[in-house]
Amino acid sequence: MANSPSGDSSIDRIVRVLETFTIDRTVQTASEIGRRAGFPSSTAHRLVDALVEAGLLERDDDHRVSLGMRLWELALRGSRALRLRQVALPHMERVQARIREHTQLAALEQDSALFLERLSHPGAGANITRIAGRLPLHASSSGLVLLAHAPDDVRERVLAAPLPQVAKETVTDAAALRRLLARVRRDGYVVARGSIEAVSTGVAVPVRDRTGDVIAALSVVLPRDAPTEQAIAALLQASRGIRSDLSEY
Ligand code: PHB
Repeated sequence: MANSPSGDSSIDRIVRVLETFTIDRTVQTASEIGRRAGFPSSTAHRLVDALVEAGLLERDDDHRVSLGMRLWELALRGSRALRLRQVALPHMERVQARIREHTQLAALEQDSALFLERLSHPGAGANITRIAGRLPLHASSSGLVLLAHAPDDVRERVLAAPLPQVAKETVTDAAALRRLLARVRRDGYVVARGSIEAVSTGVAVPVRDRTGDVIAALSVVLPRDAPTEQAIAALLQASRGIRSDLSEY
């Protein structure tokens, strides 16, 4: 791999460029990318030109760049996330029709909950999840399910790190969180009231593959004091349906 004078490989540099794009920062100039990725402006312009040429970035009439459609195409092609999303979608639609609130599918990715799909419902309450956005594991219902079933080393790493107080009711004490995760494993669902924002309650269940491994979390976001029984039942039914469809896929 060709290395730059600073010793990082060309792959590292491309990743650093791509990582300057976030869910809230989708369009930038090459100079802004350089500043954020820590490259001299000339290097940033050269990298951006090459990535635009390859179709991984797109440039608009104002010379500002965004992630390219080709990157989306390559990322989705044959990906596990896409297959899971496709199998889950009809089941998510059923949950959404029954509960009439936002319904999300999330997977564990680099110590956070990464949202693969979100169905919104007209008139549904507040919801901060976004497709391709992340939420902290300890502070969201999906995250709590994923953390409860994560490999031991991931769970221990998350429990050992500071647990930010995202909202007033976020569980930030490691011992209390450990007890909560044990309850999530025992009950097969979690109801997280006010964990990430005071006005909402997240309800989530694990999604398993045919071997029984937890591969995702399925959740709904309800107004804070809404009853949760129907949502739990709908999510559990959907999760069973996804598992059974995954084995045929
Ligand atoms: C949750 O999963 O707990 C959750 C997610 C998004 C919200 C509120 C709660 O806006």
